[in-house]
Amino acid sequence: MNKIAITGIKPTGIPHLGNYLGAIKPAIELSHNPEIDCLYFIADYHALNYIKSKEELIELTKEVACTWLACGLDPKKVVFYKQSQVPEVTELNWLLANVTSKGLMNRAHAYKALVEKSTAEGGDPDALVNMGLYNYPILMAADILLFNSKYVPVGADQKQHVEMARDIAKAFNKRYGYTFVVPEELINKKVATIYGLDGRKMSKSYNNTIPLFCDEAKLKKLISGIKTDSSLPTDPKSTDCAIFNLYKQFATATEVQNMADRFAVGVSWADAKAELFSVINREIAPMREKYNYYKNNYDIVEKLLADGNNRAQKIARETLKRARQSIGLDSNAII
Ligand code: TRP
Repeated sequence: MNKIAITGIKPTGIPHLGNYLGAIKPAIELSHNPEIDCLYFIADYHALNYIKSKEELIELTKEVACTWLACGLDPKKVVFYKQSQVPEVTELNWLLANVTSKGLMNRAHAYKALVEKSTAEGGDPDALVNMGLYNYPILMAADILLFNSKYVPVGADQKQHVEMARDIAKAFNKRYGYTFVVPEELINKKVATIYGLDGRKMSKSYNNTIPLFCDEAKLKKLISGIKTDSSLPTDPKSTDCAIFNLYKQFATATEVQNMADRFAVGVSWADAKAELFSVINREIAPMREKYNYYKNNYDIVEKLLADGNNRAQKIARETLKRARQSIGLDSNAII
């Protein structure tokens, strides 16, 4: 039987090149493996502790859905669904909460960061924390375990969450007998940190992102604005910079070698940026067209999602039944 892989994207921002390289592209590549069945979804329940406006939630959900399809998700092969349309996730979330220690949640990076922030500002440690954020790792474990997933392709920032899902699966299996597949993270080592406009890690929280599907003119403008040092065109340049970092992700091996040679002898930043634009746009342009098509024909996307939601729900119901029986909630069913 094929192994199962699952991953989700939160609709909390406009997808950017970092999301594409770190999460979306590797997931799409994985979906071409005939020995793996994939489920890819929009993690809208997970967005709720961050997105507070209804309009924004709807808009960003649309963005993520169109992006998945534009990047090559084939809904015939992949179960493509919206998390909130499979409410079994929340029931499993509750069952899992009861095998999860509070101490495990206390160790979550995202929670700890907020506690540190508030403490540094002299506030109550938990002032910035709502229960959606605190329980986030349990909800994510529910996503993963509900579909018997073995692999979870994610960026390095999600490693801890998958480790927690693994701990939670083991705790459940230990208490109630084998019920859940124990998952593992699949982290694409090829994709190191992607640098943003200011040379730091590309991240929405640094406000330094390049949107995946902005139009060509905007893409060119953003690339030309990437921060560089003030070396002269004839000065040798270090390849440890945002331009080269991004170039490597989109160029062929020969192109990368040539560019490295030019960096060694000196190249103008303007030329390097022009080449960077050309390799990025070469890869993105066909996807941008699809993205625009789906945005303008969203009814098609909704139909695809409705079908995926049904397929996901069928699997979810079975797993949930199994979990309820393991616990003894549906004891009639097993006597
Ligand atoms: N937490 C993930 C992120 O922030 C999104 C996510 C939610 C997810 N549920 C998941 C990823 C299940 C993989 C599997 O990107």
